[in-house]
Amino acid sequence: MVLVKFIFLYSIFSFTFTTCFHQIQPKCHQYESQALLQLKQGFVINNLASANLLSYPKTASWNSSTDCCSWDGIKCHEHTDHVIHIDLSSSQLYGTMDANSSLFRLVHLRLLDLFDNDFNYSQIPSKIGELSQLKYLNLSISLFSGEIPQQFSQLSKLLSLDLGFRAIVRPKGSTSNLLQLKLSSLRSIIQNSTKIEILFLSYVTISSTLPDTLTNLTSLKALSLYNSELYGEFPVGVFHLPNLELLDLGYNSNLNGSLPEFQSSSLTYLLLGQTGFYGTLPVSIGKFSSLVILSIPDCHFFGYIPSSLGNLTQLIRIYLRNNKFRGDPSASLMNLTKLTVLEVSSNKFTIETFSWVGKLSSLNVLEISSVNIGSDIPLPFANLTQLEVLSAANSNMKGEIPSWIMNLTNLVILNLPHNSLHGKQELDMFLKLKKLVVLNLAFNKLSLYSGKSSTPFDWFSISSLRIGFMRNIPIHMQLKSLMQLDLSFNNLRGRTPSCLGNFSQLLERLDLKWNKLSGLIPQTYMIGNSLRMIDFNNNNLLGELPRALVNSRSLEFFDVSYNNINDSFPFWLGDLPELKVLSLSNNEFHGDIRCSGNMTCTFSKLHIIDLSHNQFSGSFPTEMIHSLKAMNTSNASQLQYESYLMWNNVGQYLISTDVFYSFTMSNKGLARVYEKLQKFYSLIAIDISSNKISGEIPQVIGELKGLVLLNLSNNNLIGSIPSSIAKLSNLEALDLSLNSLSGKIPQQLAQITFLEYLNVSFNNLTGPIPEHNQFSTFKGDSFEGNQGLCGDQLLKKCIDHAGPSTSDDDDDDDNSESFVELYWTVVLIGYSGGLVAGVALGSTYFPQLYWIMQYVQDGAQFQKHFSNFMLQQLICLKLSIDNLSLNNLNRSFQ
Ligand SMILES: *[C@@H]1O[C@H](CO)[C@@H](O)[C@H](O)[C@H]1NC(C)=O
Ligand SMILES: *[C@@H]1O[C@H](CO)[C@@H](O)[C@H](O)[C@H]1NC(C)=O
Ligand SMILES: *[C@@H]1O[C@H](CO)[C@@H](O)[C@H](O)[C@H]1NC(C)=O
Ligand SMILES: *[C@@H]1O[C@H](CO)[C@@H](O)[C@H](O)[C@H]1NC(C)=O
Ligand SMILES: *[C@@H]1O[C@H](CO)[C@@H](O)[C@H](O)[C@H]1NC(C)=O
Ligand SMILES: *[C@@H]1O[C@H](CO)[C@@H](O)[C@H](O)[C@H]1NC(C)=O
Ligand SMILES: *[C@@H]1O[C@H](CO)[C@@H](O)[C@H](O)[C@H]1NC(C)=O
Ligand SMILES: *[C@@H]1O[C@H](CO)[C@@H](O)[C@H](O)[C@H]1NC(C)=O
Ligand SMILES: *[C@@H]1O[C@H](CO)[C@@H](O)[C@H](O)[C@H]1NC(C)=O
Repeated sequence: MVLVKFIFLYSIFSFTFTTCFHQIQPKCHQYESQALLQLKQGFVINNLASANLLSYPKTASWNSSTDCCSWDGIKCHEHTDHVIHIDLSSSQLYGTMDANSSLFRLVHLRLLDLFDNDFNYSQIPSKIGELSQLKYLNLSISLFSGEIPQQFSQLSKLLSLDLGFRAIVRPKGSTSNLLQLKLSSLRSIIQNSTKIEILFLSYVTISSTLPDTLTNLTSLKALSLYNSELYGEFPVGVFHLPNLELLDLGYNSNLNGSLPEFQSSSLTYLLLGQTGFYGTLPVSIGKFSSLVILSIPDCHFFGYIPSSLGNLTQLIRIYLRNNKFRGDPSASLMNLTKLTVLEVSSNKFTIETFSWVGKLSSLNVLEISSVNIGSDIPLPFANLTQLEVLSAANSNMKGEIPSWIMNLTNLVILNLPHNSLHGKQELDMFLKLKKLVVLNLAFNKLSLYSGKSSTPFDWFSISSLRIGFMRNIPIHMQLKSLMQLDLSFNNLRGRTPSCLGNFSQLLERLDLKWNKLSGLIPQTYMIGNSLRMIDFNNNNLLGELPRALVNSRSLEFFDVSYNNINDSFPFWLGDLPELKVLSLSNNEFHGDIRCSGNMTCTFSKLHIIDLSHNQFSGSFPTEMIHSLKAMNTSNASQLQYESYLMWNNVGQYLISTDVFYSFTMSNKGLARVYEKLQKFYSLIAIDISSNKISGEIPQVIGELKGLVLLNLSNNNLIGSIPSSIAKLSNLEALDLSLNSLSGKIPQQLAQITFLEYLNVSFNNLTGPIPEHNQFSTFKGDSFEGNQGLCGDQLLKKCIDHAGPSTSDDDDDDDNSESFVELYWTVVLIGYSGGLVAGVALGSTYFPQLYWIMQYVQDGAQFQKHFSNFMLQQLICLKLSIDNLSLNNLNRSFQ
């Protein structure tokens, strides 16, 4: 963005230059004019190809009857008249760039800027190396893909190279890098382009350690390697580069390093968020006399904040979120009166008083979640009238919500869940906060009521509403722009109001779990909408599922467990292309679990299905199991959820809110809550326990290779345990108890390396219990109630020792390649992450800008996910980032 600023300054400069001294008109070389016109013809103009709303087709005015040196974006040398600058940034160019492009005939080029166009995933031609005079090269945000050619290293005069900031955005926000750079190419660039000042390779996959020779680039002013899949130790010498002003290493979680002691430093922006950086902050950080942004969230820093930090009075933003800092940082922070962002949440701070915070009257963002406040909402906050985000989740705040909160009229996000706030709170009060977008008061002891406001409620500007424990809900909202509605864990009673169904087309998340809603689910909820998540679990809903659900084509998560729904198996949900999680447990579903008539059960992405505790009958649902293709994968990464971000505009910022699903399922005999289900995407589970399923378990069950939990207990299953279950190499829990299974336990089951829980009790199994591997960890209660079983666990010797142990060395078999790490955080009901998972500003905020840009580019999707105000927001956002530009980078490339 630094460079954008430069271009901007540069254009003003050149504009002034040409308007004041236009009498000297250089004469364009004929061959260069032709080359440029050929270049123009190689692309079509498409206004979706540039994200910048101020973009326009610069090439449109190029024609052969005028001097090419006067064309928009072109500049020629004063004396030689050769074309030396091509600035086609944000020029709406669309098409592929091939190796024969006439561009490469313009060998005198010093500046080439193709920023923000759409080259349709073409490779960067290796001929670029022939433009050996280039000093400034910008190909960022222009949809080049593939390997960055090694010929870049021939550009030995480069001062500025920007290939960064381009992530492909999948429709729902997940990204993967488009460009790759081999370590060998990076090495030769470093070796040859020794004068380089700006090197932006963010979102370029480098996937290696960084070479120490990086410290040879003594002219370096700005280095960004954001999200480059770096690992290993960061070369510490880079911190000592005398001219370095910007260092962004963010989002490389395997990149380690620590901050050395400094003699002096010109660093202005230090951005290390989400890396493996560790250690304490050095006392000499007090010498960073230019530091404006210190962004080190989600790292492994610890210790006290050195008081020398308090000398850096020019600091504007500090992000320390989610480290292990200790002590009371107030002495270091209290004099930093220019701060606009202060994020100190999720550390081990013990802040004794907050009176000093009142001095930080420029604050826009205050994030103090998980800092123990232990009192009322501190009164000094009343001084923070510029505050746009106040986030203090889980901060042990007590008392009532003070009326002066309504003095903070710039608030856009008020996030106070998981505290001990109490008292009667009139909800209309918050309407005074005209800019409020997110209000989260969940998990407090508030008694909220709607006031006597005569007009219909004016809640439409609040696009994300999460209010806990409400007594009385203002139903007559206008909810046209609401994107999520989360009224979970309230005491909502009565019929589900069908007027609530009059939602905006934008609604993506409807979370009404744990209320006391009764009656039918209104059909109107489902019509032609963008719903991705519906959670009705734990209510008193009746009747059938609304067939209109098939219109919710984006539905990923559907949970109606713990209600009184009385319906047959909703095979028709199998048609929903995105459905990943389906829970119908604890209802009155009945009949066969099967596809009906001529419908094929597709369920193409389903990988968690819970049908337990219903009245399903008939034979084992072999046909459906066959159709569950997503469970058939051994490559768990195929199951990843698209990331689910909610966007809100906060004053001049955009913030993203991660949306997570939480899901309860029985695992290893206990009900477990999976918070943030998306993080456990490799959880593949089938639970059809406590129904009346009869017949045999088919061998085909062994095809569901990814299965982790399988619970068939408490049915009427007969026959033997299929040996194919041994093929389920990821299986962690297998519950077949309370059936009528007979025969032997297949010895092969001992091969399932991860099996932690097995229950075959109360069947009619016979023969010896396998002895090897995991089986030695299972206790007698896994096997009880089977008359014919024998083995050590049951203290019953097997008389016929008919070889349970064949002599193959099973122990050597745990080949490491099948090892899948499963980080399952299993937490108890009642704990829940805050709604605003991360207030994304500063460094973590750059990439999101580009996601948005991509959304603009993919116009249709953009329309779907965002409303127009976002478009307007984009300009503000861009400008505000430009304002961050480094002061001294505007140099001439003449
Ligand atoms: C070429 O461009 C000039 C200036 O934009 C315009 O006046 C002229 O009509 C154009 N000529 C042709 C042949 O398009
Ligand atoms: C380094 O630059 C010089 C001059 O441009 C060039 O001849 C040489 O091939 C380059 N070396 C590499 C390794 O690219
Ligand atoms: C670059 O750095 C390496 C080691 O880091 C060193 O051996 C080499 O001499 C340096 N090259 C230059 C030109 O300074
Ligand atoms: C802060 O700055 C003052 C004067 O510039 C200096 O005397 C003092 O030592 C510095 N404090 C720390 C902790 O570095
Ligand atoms: C903060 O500034 C005041 C006045 O400038 C000064 O007296 C005080 O010592 C400073 N506090 C710290 C902790 O640096
Ligand atoms: C409130 O802010 C003003 C500056 O805007 C400052 O002078 C005053 O001391 C602050 N009050 C408190 C209680 O911190
Ligand atoms: C809140 O605003 C009102 C009206 O402007 C003012 O009287 C009151 O003192 C303010 N409260 C605080 C705590 O600043
Ligand atoms: C499937 O059956 C329904 C009625 O049960 C019928 O209307 C529809 O045309 C059939 N579709 C196909 C493809 O046979
Ligand atoms: C248990 O299995 C045996 C055969 O292995 C069979 O004769 C017997 O009837 C079964 N008992 C029950 C209760 O199913």
